Amino acid sequence: MTTPRPETLAKLTPVLTKRWLSPDAWRIGTYEKLDGYAALRKAFKAHPDDLIQLIKDSGLRGRGGAGFPTGLKWGFIPQGDGKPHYLVVNADEGEPGTCKDLPLMTHDPHSLVEGVIIASYAIRANRAYIYIRGEAVHAARRLRNAVNEAYAKGYLGRNILGSGFDLDLVVHSGAGAYICGEETALLDSLEGFRGQPRLRPPFPATHGLYASPTVVNNVGTIASVPYIVLGGADWWKSMGTEKSSGPMIYSLSGRVVNPGQYECGLGITLRELIELAGGMQPGHSLKFWTPGGSSTPLLTAEHLDVPLDFEEVAAAGSILGTTATQIFSDQDCPVYATYRWLEFYHHESCGKCTPCREGNYWMVRVYRRILAGQGTHEDLDTLLDTCDNILGRSFCGLGDGATSSVTSSLKYFKQDYLDYIEGRTAPRLSDKQLVGAH
Ligand SMILES: Cc1cc2nc3c(=O)[nH]c(=O)nc-3n(C[C@H](O)[C@H](O)[C@H](O)COP(=O)(O)O)c2cc1C
Ligand code: SF4
Repeated sequence: MTTPRPETLAKLTPVLTKRWLSPDAWRIGTYEKLDGYAALRKAFKAHPDDLIQLIKDSGLRGRGGAGFPTGLKWGFIPQGDGKPHYLVVNADEGEPGTCKDLPLMTHDPHSLVEGVIIASYAIRANRAYIYIRGEAVHAARRLRNAVNEAYAKGYLGRNILGSGFDLDLVVHSGAGAYICGEETALLDSLEGFRGQPRLRPPFPATHGLYASPTVVNNVGTIASVPYIVLGGADWWKSMGTEKSSGPMIYSLSGRVVNPGQYECGLGITLRELIELAGGMQPGHSLKFWTPGGSSTPLLTAEHLDVPLDFEEVAAAGSILGTTATQIFSDQDCPVYATYRWLEFYHHESCGKCTPCREGNYWMVRVYRRILAGQGTHEDLDTLLDTCDNILGRSFCGLGDGATSSVTSSLKYFKQDYLDYIEGRTAPRLSDKQLVGAH
């Protein structure tokens, strides 16, 4: 284990994570003692439009993967249209490797509840939903408890804190489908339908939940709002980079000594994050990693010094995504890792469109053949050709994301594929595993 140098330790910026280690951090009493609900009182003194402007000025970008500017999204909600408006928090967190929203809701659920109330006030929504994945039972319990506490203290319900503003907040557990994290599939699921993406346009800003204007935001996005209201846009922008402002929770998993959540200004590098996490596990050296979950193209040891913000990661040929850095070493196989991810995408494909439904089905089979020592050189062309037919031709981002590790692992680690095909690496799968469960 390596001890982080003081200058690297100084890069930690605990903002959203600052209460996580306080005793009973999830209880309203603790939250109130540690500045909780002070931002709400301040927000009620401002006009809703000024709050939207504040979020625009802060440069806050969505923490759910795409990095869309949050203030801009809120500004799309038509005002004075006479329709109900909704805020929907996306707490599905299904992307493999991603682990930032669940710990936030488990340790500090009131920061999300407070963010929901302020955001709803800003977009003039009187009903909000938190859609949490079904398996996240513990986080959902904490969240429901926090919502009950907030009602009991008058932070939710009618005429909140005498402001004249009403809000009801519902915590809804999904049934556990990755596609229900896609915002329009989530809305269908919330309405009681099978979760499948909707055709866009129209966009949720005008035709979202129950065909009404709706903002869908990630947990981390909404939980950032109280801090921005209290600290101001300039303070928020003092962290991160010019175009990617603020702190971000990076979740590190895999071959590091201390995997976990590290909150730092956007733009920290993987080299620094690994140092914060105590270094690589003894006997392991970095071979490949994902900057933002398994839907983002793999990077390698060459990319250790790429600033992890939206722009620089894109310039390096990948996507910042959910800042879920999964770290693999020279003892891990990129072909096998890609196969396991593809199994996931194949299983989670909703089946609505042909490129994703069929393409992932067949790619899984090609991988099994390669890993069973029965692959051919043509299989590599078939994989690239299949990806070409999925990427940009699928109905939603799940199809595109499935191709990321295939094309990037072939770009950086073709030799690992050839070693299976040409017999230098022993098969990882048996003949029996060639035809699998799905
Ligand atoms: C297949 C798929 C799964 C997704 N899963 C999630 C998720 O679990 N949580 C999330 O916040 N966004 C997820 N997204 C992104 C959402 O569609 C949407 O962009 C996001 O919730 C918007 O919030 P933000 O602007 O605050 O980032 C997913 C997208 C796709 C295509
Ligand atoms: S890309 Fe996949 S998950 Fe998305 S709509 Fe098509 S089949 Fe469904």
